[in-house]
Amino acid sequence: MFLYNTALAPDSLVDGKPLEVRLAFCGRLAGDESSGRAWLTPEEERRWKALACEKRRADWLSGRVAAKRALMPELAALDVEVLNENSGRPFLRRLDGGPAAQISISHCAEGAVCAVSINGGPVGVDVETVAPRAERVVELYAHDSERRAGLACDARKQTLLWTLKEAALKLLGLGLTCDPRDARLRSLEPDAELAFFGAARRRWEDLGRPAIRSAWRDWAWSAGSPCMLSWCWTSEVP
Ligand SMILES: CC(C)(COP(=O)(O)OP(=O)(O)OC[C@H]1O[C@@H](n2cnc3c(N)ncnc32)[C@H](O)[C@@H]1OP(=O)(O)O)[C@@H](O)C(=O)NCCC(=O)NCCS
Repeated sequence: MFLYNTALAPDSLVDGKPLEVRLAFCGRLAGDESSGRAWLTPEEERRWKALACEKRRADWLSGRVAAKRALMPELAALDVEVLNENSGRPFLRRLDGGPAAQISISHCAEGAVCAVSINGGPVGVDVETVAPRAERVVELYAHDSERRAGLACDARKQTLLWTLKEAALKLLGLGLTCDPRDARLRSLEPDAELAFFGAARRRWEDLGRPAIRSAWRDWAWSAGSPCMLSWCWTSEVP
């Protein structure tokens, strides 16, 4: 069920200690949901059963398993719940009442990924299968300046640009409730600077204008389609 579980140490410090951001993965759960259910608390199982369709239940479950996998060094699966705010943003609740890390979840056809910021501020992650997008779709998320700079000129870059924006907007807790063109990049170089406008800027300012770092990888589940995986983090706890 688990393909990968790694710890990444971005070169950021929190109270003099390296910021720890972990990514954990869970291949798509199909047909063996009973094994995944061993990872759910009664409250999570209640919410899982209430989800309307099988695809949604599989996505939701694989995201929870990825999140709990990321926390395994410190917490057993049933010591923590992965719940969602009304906005959809996921959060952790430790059943012992202890402080919980910040998380973000993404699913795609082949599985789910969870980013956990153990000692830093909010985090965002997105994974998407690399695929070409119609120009009219690209126009909905790539700002003119990004298209002119060639950041959406082929399928790989279109997917990368999308995942970086979605990861950043998840970090801000907005998801797609704001215009993705309001999170803008000048390049797709590693750790390229993100600039925010409109509602995204207002949320970023509300959070105290944290410095947001980003990273991405070309990624594939074993023998799966090429994907793009992007994540954003900040060492500044609001
Ligand atoms: C956040 C959002 C962009 C994710 O869309 P997606 O690409 O379909 O899905 P992903 O698999 O990458 O991410 C899904 C996860 O995002 C997280 N998420 C949802 N809303 C979020 C928010 N406001 N902030 C941060 N994370 C959020 C959830 O953890 C969700 O997984 P879960 O429900 O299993 O816990 C989307 O759910 C959203 O913004 N919805 C708002 C409604 C909307 O405008 N929809 C238009 C769609 S075109």
